[in-house]
Amino acid sequence: MALARDGEDRVKLLERFHEEHEFIERVAGALYRWAEEGGDPADAGRFAHFLAVYSAGFHHAREDGILIPALVEHVEVPADRGPIMVIQEEHHRLEELAARLGSTADREVAREIARILWEHIDKENSVLFPEAEERLHREGVRELEDRPMTPDEEAARARGEALVERYSPLEDPDVVRGEGCIICSAYAETCRGIEAEWWNRWEWENHFRKDHGG
Ligand SMILES: [Fe+2]
Ligand SMILES: [Fe+2]
Repeated sequence: MALARDGEDRVKLLERFHEEHEFIERVAGALYRWAEEGGDPADAGRFAHFLAVYSAGFHHAREDGILIPALVEHVEVPADRGPIMVIQEEHHRLEELAARLGSTADREVAREIARILWEHIDKENSVLFPEAEERLHREGVRELEDRPMTPDEEAARARGEALVERYSPLEDPDVVRGEGCIICSAYAETCRGIEAEWWNRWEWENHFRKDHGG
């Protein structure tokens, strides 16, 4: 696995993504409590709005529009298969489900959104981001140009904070959180895992030597 970085050495955009994940997963927990404990049906539309405007429109849009193009351009990882394909398919799926939550207030849709978001965040935090950061550094890319939140996105974030206040985040006891490709539902289905999809020969040999004390 790629080396962890800290302090000034980190790509700031990825640091911001990590912070956004901490917030989004709390809203996912609030959504899960809303589903489990019979929250106000009118709040389905508020969750859907947060998911569409902040989670998809701000967060996922910058992963898709800044990080992934940078990886394809500077690092030359494939965009049409492997981890990037999986991540983008999940962004699309989450958008569809958020729209369905808004129109139906269906609690099973809410549970599915929360579960996908938790797994999605785990795989980005533990696989995509560290592997991306390692590669961007290797190519001399220290920073990626970001954009600020629009007023609508700030309002959506505030709405998410209000929902977390109203429904204290709840975890699904059946969901196992974790790190690495092994927790990813696409692993061995539509993606062969980061090593097979991204690693080059040098990385295989280098990691093999490190793992075996060489
Ligand atoms: Fe994502
Ligand atoms: Fe993300």
